[in-house]
Amino acid sequence: MYDRAGGKERVMELRDATEADVPGILAIFNEVIANSTAVYIDDPVTEEERRHWLLGRQGQGFPVLVAEDGSGILGFSSFGTYNPRFGYRYTVEHSVFVRADKRGARVGRALITALFPRAAALGVHVMIGGVDAENSASLRLHESLGFIRAAHFHEVGRKFGRWLDVIYLQRWIDAPGAGRP
Ligand SMILES: CC(C)(COP(=O)(O)OP(=O)(O)OC[C@H]1O[C@@H](n2cnc3c(N)ncnc32)[C@H](O)[C@@H]1OP(=O)(O)O)[C@@H](O)C(=O)NCCC(=O)NCCS
Repeated sequence: MYDRAGGKERVMELRDATEADVPGILAIFNEVIANSTAVYIDDPVTEEERRHWLLGRQGQGFPVLVAEDGSGILGFSSFGTYNPRFGYRYTVEHSVFVRADKRGARVGRALITALFPRAAALGVHVMIGGVDAENSASLRLHESLGFIRAAHFHEVGRKFGRWLDVIYLQRWIDAPGAGRP
């Protein structure tokens, strides 16, 4: 994918995150925390917290992907355990965040799409995403990638002094009813 900026074309690369990406990931995450209801966290997280999260995900064999161009980290995506109970082992929950100045440039679409083959390789059956009901950009993005709305929870979150609804969307990674050993 190409990004025309300053008269130069810069290739956007998608790759697995490394510890060197933690500051870029942290800056994007804390901007979202401060300015939106996309994440139900009130206070900024620390670099140590993001490093622990990254290494924890990767240590469990889950992907953390970053999109990058000449301007730095543009966004990140990941999935992990949806519910630790054994019966949920074929289901994962994902997340995606794009740097504020790069939104609407299909970075988010690329970051989620790149998770699908990674999930398939791990034998995942269903991928789930929880999206704030007011986050129309994320809802439209997910629906355009084949996610369907599966649940709407009312007033389960609270931030900025008000109640928040969450819509859970799901997408089959293989096919509905696909078998497992
Ligand atoms: C939501 C988010 C991940 C989307 O990523 P993005 O790179 O901005 O989105 P894309 O450019 O890939 O858009 C893909 C589709 O989403 C929809 N979309 C994106 N931005 C939109 C907007 N502002 N309004 C309406 N629809 C929008 C469109 O359907 C778009 O398809 P199109 O490109 O064919 O028009 C990104 O905006 C973001 O990080 N926002 C803040 C954090 C957040 O909300 N994270 C998700 C938590 S669930």
